[in-house]
Amino acid sequence: MHLICTSIVFLILIIAISTEDQCCEKQYKKLNRELRKLRRNTSDEISSLRTKVTELEKIVLKPGTGPDVGGMTTAPTTKPNIDVRLPTNLHPHHYKVELYPDMYKQNPEDFKFTGSVEILLECKEPTDEVIFHVNALTIDDASIEFSEASGAADAPKKQGQFEEDEERQFFIQKLDKPMVKGKNYTIKMAFRAPLTKGLAGLYLSSYEEGGVTKYLATTQFQPSYTRRTFPCFDEPAVKSTFDITLVRKEPMVSLSNMEIKQIVDRPGGLKADVYQTTVIMPTYLLAFVVCDFDKSEGVTANGTKFRVWSRKEAVNQTTYALDIGVAILEYFEDFFDVDFPLPKQDMIAVPDFVADGMENWGLIIYSETSLLYDDTGSSASNKQEIAGVVSHELAHQWFGNLVTPGWWDDLWLNEGFASYVEYLGVDFVHPEWKMMEQFVVQILEDVFKTDGLAASHPVYVPIGHPDEIYETFDKISYYKSSSIIRMVNNFLTEDTFRKGLTNYLKDNAFGNTHHTDLWKSLTDQAMSEGKNIDVGDIMNTWVRQMGYPVVTVSRNGTSAEATQKHYLLDPSQTPDPKYPSPYNYLWKVPLSYTTKSESNFINPPIIWMNEETKSLNGLPTETNDWVLVNVNQIGYYRVDYDTANWNALIAQLNDNHLAIQVRNRAQLIDDAFSLSRAGIYNVDITRAMQTTNYLINEREYVPWFAAIENLRYIYQMLGSTGSFGDYSKYILKQILPLYDFLGWNDSLKNNTHLEQFTRSLVIAQVCDMGHQACKDQASALYKEWMDSPDDNKISPNLKGTVYCNAIANGGIEEWDFAFERFQNENLAGERVRLLQGMACSTQPWILSRYLSWSFDETYIREQDALEVLVYISWNRIGLPLVWNFVRARWDYIFEKYEESVFIFTYIINIITETFNTDFHLQEVKCFMDAKAAINKLGATQRAFEQALEKTSSNIKWMENNYDRLKTWLQENS
Ligand SMILES: *[C@@H]1O[C@H](CO)[C@@H](O)[C@H](O)[C@H]1NC(C)=O
Ligand SMILES: *[C@@H]1O[C@H](CO)[C@@H](O)[C@H](O)[C@H]1NC(C)=O
Ligand SMILES: *[C@@H]1O[C@H](CO)[C@@H](O)[C@H](O)[C@H]1NC(C)=O
Ligand SMILES: [Zn+2]
Repeated sequence: MHLICTSIVFLILIIAISTEDQCCEKQYKKLNRELRKLRRNTSDEISSLRTKVTELEKIVLKPGTGPDVGGMTTAPTTKPNIDVRLPTNLHPHHYKVELYPDMYKQNPEDFKFTGSVEILLECKEPTDEVIFHVNALTIDDASIEFSEASGAADAPKKQGQFEEDEERQFFIQKLDKPMVKGKNYTIKMAFRAPLTKGLAGLYLSSYEEGGVTKYLATTQFQPSYTRRTFPCFDEPAVKSTFDITLVRKEPMVSLSNMEIKQIVDRPGGLKADVYQTTVIMPTYLLAFVVCDFDKSEGVTANGTKFRVWSRKEAVNQTTYALDIGVAILEYFEDFFDVDFPLPKQDMIAVPDFVADGMENWGLIIYSETSLLYDDTGSSASNKQEIAGVVSHELAHQWFGNLVTPGWWDDLWLNEGFASYVEYLGVDFVHPEWKMMEQFVVQILEDVFKTDGLAASHPVYVPIGHPDEIYETFDKISYYKSSSIIRMVNNFLTEDTFRKGLTNYLKDNAFGNTHHTDLWKSLTDQAMSEGKNIDVGDIMNTWVRQMGYPVVTVSRNGTSAEATQKHYLLDPSQTPDPKYPSPYNYLWKVPLSYTTKSESNFINPPIIWMNEETKSLNGLPTETNDWVLVNVNQIGYYRVDYDTANWNALIAQLNDNHLAIQVRNRAQLIDDAFSLSRAGIYNVDITRAMQTTNYLINEREYVPWFAAIENLRYIYQMLGSTGSFGDYSKYILKQILPLYDFLGWNDSLKNNTHLEQFTRSLVIAQVCDMGHQACKDQASALYKEWMDSPDDNKISPNLKGTVYCNAIANGGIEEWDFAFERFQNENLAGERVRLLQGMACSTQPWILSRYLSWSFDETYIREQDALEVLVYISWNRIGLPLVWNFVRARWDYIFEKYEESVFIFTYIINIITETFNTDFHLQEVKCFMDAKAAINKLGATQRAFEQALEKTSSNIKWMENNYDRLKTWLQENS
């Protein structure tokens, strides 16, 4: 599954963003990326996310009304320690399932689905109970029929009514005597349930078309929601074949994993689509859709039919996904050297969906924003997002679908793998996007931040309860896993890696595995080529302990000593004792290096560092002949050097930065800032700043991205200090050459993808730093739009920045125009951009009015209100207004939104993010104590505690760094 922008992520985003330093950071993937998106005002997705959030909040916060997606409250979850696994004495070989989603009543509250299932079971061990999963279905006891498959008369019979173990979601049917080992039995039953907008199991989704509300029924089964749709053995290791029949009314169509074999008339004018028998597969990969959609279609070189479905009005936005989908499927057939086993591949965009994409075998379901590309309205980052999700889900067709983890605790491997080859797939269709360079800043350096916290956790954490699975769907399982798989690919070499993978997939096709099986296939392949590498032995040190090392390289003549040490952002903390390290925080580190004179960035040899220290020999004698370790940042570790070598590297950047490869330029910046934050390495804040000196000559996206990411903290800390003037002068001095070079002429058609990325990054930064010409240009473009409101010519890549700066630069007219557009806008992404833009005003009265409107339904819908608070808090002028507003109206807001703990927590966090004085600390403390005393903190208490901790750590940072930074900026601006 791909959860980049899922509501779950958004929910957690809201709790966790904030909590960079805290336990909730453990949750879910890609949070910071989402946050960045929000901050760059470029997200097209927030609004639809919000709807999902609202849905999910209902589900999560009101137990019993929906799936328990688990682990989402701000309090640590304590799971009852029950054995949720099914007994293994029965094995289901085959299912016949029929479902009729009835969406044809006048009132959606009457919608329901009815169905029947027949399961062919083999008795593996004698038992007189039939146990499998069911949840939230009404089963008609009279419909249950049990018999021996061959019809023998003396077979065991159903005894009494069935029971349900609700805690474990078990269906239990007693028999009058035990089944016989080796014999087959069948059990049949009929069931029904309401068809609601639940986002899990078989659920209802809707959209508007031609002024009419249209409905569709669609599914989300991973990890444990198939049992909400029909009774089944709902575990990933229990694989069966399925005969599916979907009943519909015309003109609806139905879709499932396989092709339709036959269409049968049913009473009442209904049609039954009877599908071909599936391949052997687990329940969580089934999918059913009944809708009135249209499609575009193609075919792969090997004859696999490929179709992309959407609402009829959006079907012309499916072409891009179809083109790359076909190409990537062909690429993966070649990459894995295993043919796609199904006759067809469908992809469908549904209006209400919990994830970005779900890899159901042969029927991948996406949220609309992750599949539909409109070549006039979508931005370059939308396009990349779509390519990424499509590639990720297609990768799962092999890794996850053909070969499935035996239990959810190996989900990290599934997701890490799909997240890694996702980049290979996109790189194949768009080599000019330089995905493997982007990987370093988007994935590796991003997860370094999370994994550098004492509250991180190992990649592999055994879990019992399937609800806990969502807790492992986090940045560590996606980003760290993909980063370390990239490392394996590199140290084994591409060829060995691919052959090992092919063996793994072929040996385990249609079966289940543990991650050690992959290590074994890779090791066997390496050994067979005479390479003495034990992949499992190496990888265990990366998978079974949290964090990663800093390798410090100290040169001495022609040799150097390298030592490794666990990196912690705050070295005074100790790693969470819940996850003790079996390796004493030492890793098996693949060291690679090059030197100035050698300059080998292509294929430097690997030296294994298996102990705490390792000597490197044969280095250059000249000290200005630098050594650079971790070439292309392939290894999952940071690097520190002695002072002379740091100076030589920085001198090289200033002298001719092109002598160091792009990824390593980003690495030098990212390592330097992260080491300086920890405060115990050979890099202080001024040396970190020195790595940005050369940026005046930098033209590439990836190093700039790394720099702006790392400078954000300094921006936050200095924002309200006397040094901010020098800071922005310095940044402008560095970035203006690139800004002038790129200009404002942005064209989706004529500019390269990375040029568009760079331009939108640079323009946002330059305007942010207060450059007048930048702000004026934003105003001019906005003015043009105001003059012809129905013809918005602003590039989708720049809309967010333009709205924000034009409104900041302008007055009430600009603001009112945006508000009017907002009221008439239907596109979710554009609504969000406008809401965000309006929050950029610099006039306190306008912001105050916006704040009060956000709590007045005649102006802003209730569901948008809290988001408005968030957006205004991003604005330095708005922040104190929000802080005052929240405090003044706390009791009201608290009562009204008590259930929206997530967004609340996020707001508190954003507000306090820049707090770095004792005064701030006291302010937070006072307020918190006062509200605690009258019992009005509820679940936000933890957010306040985190705010205090963070503020203290910011104060400490200011004490240690501010004076030096101030002087440095004076000298360099
Ligand atoms: C039970 O069913 C499976 C699947 O159809 C079949 O392979 C097996 O031979 C059957 N066993 C018996 C004893 O009929
Ligand atoms: C798919 O194409 C490859 C070559 O591109 C070929 O080796 C393979 O046999 C084909 N498979 C099928 C099922 O046609
Ligand atoms: C797609 O169709 C819609 C109307 O259904 C139309 O407004 C739009 O221009 C079309 N887009 C493209 C790229 O053809
Ligand atoms: Zn996935």
